[in-house]
Amino acid sequence: MENSKKTKGIILAGGTATRLFPLTATTSKQLLPVYDRQMIFYPLNTLIKAGIEDILIIIAPDHSGQFLNLLSSIFKKTGINLEFVVQMIPRGLADAFIVGEEFIGQDNVVMVLGDNIFEDDISQAIKNFKKGGLIFTKKVLDPGRFGVVEFNKNGKVISIEEKPSNPRSNYAVTGAYAYDSRVVKIAKSLKPSNRDEVEIVDVHNKYLEIEELKVEKIKGAWLDAGTFDSLLKAGNIVKEKGISRNFDPRIEAAVKKFNQNLRELAKKKLL
Ligand code: G1P
Repeated sequence: MENSKKTKGIILAGGTATRLFPLTATTSKQLLPVYDRQMIFYPLNTLIKAGIEDILIIIAPDHSGQFLNLLSSIFKKTGINLEFVVQMIPRGLADAFIVGEEFIGQDNVVMVLGDNIFEDDISQAIKNFKKGGLIFTKKVLDPGRFGVVEFNKNGKVISIEEKPSNPRSNYAVTGAYAYDSRVVKIAKSLKPSNRDEVEIVDVHNKYLEIEELKVEKIKGAWLDAGTFDSLLKAGNIVKEKGISRNFDPRIEAAVKKFNQNLRELAKKKLL
């Protein structure tokens, strides 16, 4: 039976992104440009490159029409099925698994945060993933801004802490997570934190407790584009490394079609 499981994808693109005001007063963070593509195309590429074809995009109510304008029709005939759900109030990253309960069903799921840009292709790891949890970590200079993984001297993961003031390593938890369908039940069982959110770090720790959490180190560039500086840096690195030039061909075909439609409308003076 296990082999008949599909892997589905979720992109969390909700939230109000107050750190990027005033930019995010007029559009969603995940629709801001990162060099030559809207930010949302980067997590879409991470999932699509990994062979995932059923993707749920969780969006905030403000600017939700803009997501639909951009994405709702361009993947038709590509075999990629996009679904959208509006999350009225952001209740924490783990809430995505509760919002996505019906969509996930009995399948495995990979969630990518809408502002996370990966240079590495994580396809193989995702394709090999069968059961439990798998998270990706990257060595950074400022681990205190992230979830932090502590390893013992044999390389075994012993703890994961969210934004610790005294980080126990330089390994940040990135915003790509693969879980089996038990994640829904786990997310529902979590006690909200002090900021009244269900925290993704608690999900990692539940799988760690039952010894079913794998942690894979990534080597290439990894960026979260949630601040002015990281957004600018992301654009520069994407350009320098040609990340958007190496998107999955289905994404590039969809973008090309979108541009053609726009040009035709412009020609007819309908824009
Ligand atoms: C979230 C997670 C954190 C992770 C980070 C990656 O933090 O809570 O564990 O390291 O994403 O981008 P946020 O950026 O939402 O503060």
